[in-house]
Amino acid sequence: MDRYAIMGGTRLQGEVPIGGAKNAALAILAAAVMTNEPVRIENVPDVTDINVLLKAMERIGVKIERPERHLVIIDGSRIESCIIDDEYLKRIRASYYLVGALLGKNKQAEVPLPGGCNIGVRAIDQHIKGFSALGAKVRILHGSIAAQADELRGNHIFLDKVSVGATINIMMASSLASGKTIIENAAKEPHVVDLANFLNSMGANIKGAGTDVIRIRGVEKLHGTDYAIIPDQIEAGTYMLASAATHGDVLVRGVIPKHLECITAKLCEIGCHITEYDDAVRVSAPEPLTSTQVKTLPYPGFPTDMQPQITVALGLAQGTSIVTEGIFENRFKYVDELIRMGASIKVEGNMAVISGVPRYSGASITAPDLRAGAALVIAAMAAEGETIIEDTRFIERGYEDFELKLRAIGAKIEKVSSDRELKKARLRLA
Ligand code: UD1
Repeated sequence: MDRYAIMGGTRLQGEVPIGGAKNAALAILAAAVMTNEPVRIENVPDVTDINVLLKAMERIGVKIERPERHLVIIDGSRIESCIIDDEYLKRIRASYYLVGALLGKNKQAEVPLPGGCNIGVRAIDQHIKGFSALGAKVRILHGSIAAQADELRGNHIFLDKVSVGATINIMMASSLASGKTIIENAAKEPHVVDLANFLNSMGANIKGAGTDVIRIRGVEKLHGTDYAIIPDQIEAGTYMLASAATHGDVLVRGVIPKHLECITAKLCEIGCHITEYDDAVRVSAPEPLTSTQVKTLPYPGFPTDMQPQITVALGLAQGTSIVTEGIFENRFKYVDELIRMGASIKVEGNMAVISGVPRYSGASITAPDLRAGAALVIAAMAAEGETIIEDTRFIERGYEDFELKLRAIGAKIEKVSSDRELKKARLRLA
């Protein structure tokens, strides 16, 4: 099992390039099977979640070529089965996008129920409500979600809860339904818009993505396309917070600054200097940071996927901060590890009360999920002394070349796979 060894205390400085958005790529790759013509997708991140999804797609007969690391060509013309029986796929939440895609195209799908990060109950009632409203019969069978329809018909669907996944799944299935679908209370996240743009480039007719009412006029079939995925908002935000917590000066390159406004606004509040360029954002951070209040909300609110990273930075800010988790009920599990590094944080329900400390101190810790894992790496880089983070797998689900990108901006971080390697790494890091 790989571990990260990190020697803290370095200010991050330099430039970091941002890859394609993992969450957009998961939806777009699944949607690419909805046509029988080849689809060429650029800017696909090379992270575990994506690679697992591609493998599962290959197993049902989708032809996948990857001529370059970030370029994937998908040919869904020879799908042999709409039943996916893949134990490993359960580990990624977005496996259920194949339900929307296959139900739309072949009017039937069976996919193992998602796992994903361990951050609380992750219901799928809104997905089921959406598929059912389109005329599908949906059952949960032996740990899988099975949906089948003789015909999909457009409908007016009001989501009871803003859900990124349900919005995406309904958008996919209804693109190939007959008639018009309206999704009310739809999610507005950048990757919802990216998927709509992608489907439209395949001949779909989707309007209003990015607002809370999305209108889809079903078409008979979709065609091939060439498409490039948007930059990853959360990867970018993670490096921005890494700069803030280490009092660094980092230019985050290849981003859409508009997508980062919910993060830059908070960074300004805690005293960081932000410079926005056309496709880059520079974050320089003074010492000390100042406290603030944060509540995670659906886009354009502060993203729940940035909650652990900002909590880590606020743990080092002067004064008392409050972070409220508004999306998932169990997303503060990593705080115990942060307390072992010297943080002063009290969690009550969905709220963390943070009394800033001047410094963290290195410790041996475990990453409980993807974003918390990245946040603990930030804490380690800001800490005094050495931190060992057990098991890098969670982090590799969503961050490409994490330790390489961090090293390039001055972090002292090594990935090691044995005690022997750890010994050698310690000499290099000292
Ligand atoms: C997506 C993101 C994830 C991010 C989350 C919120 C992907 C692959 N993942 O997850 O990184 O943290 O959005 O921005 O894009 N809910 C229901 N019923 C449903 C669906 C959701 O009650 O049918 C609840 C969930 O339990 C949660 C909230 O709605 O409390 C938001 O979930 P949702 O937006 O669906 O998140 P995901 O699509 O799973």
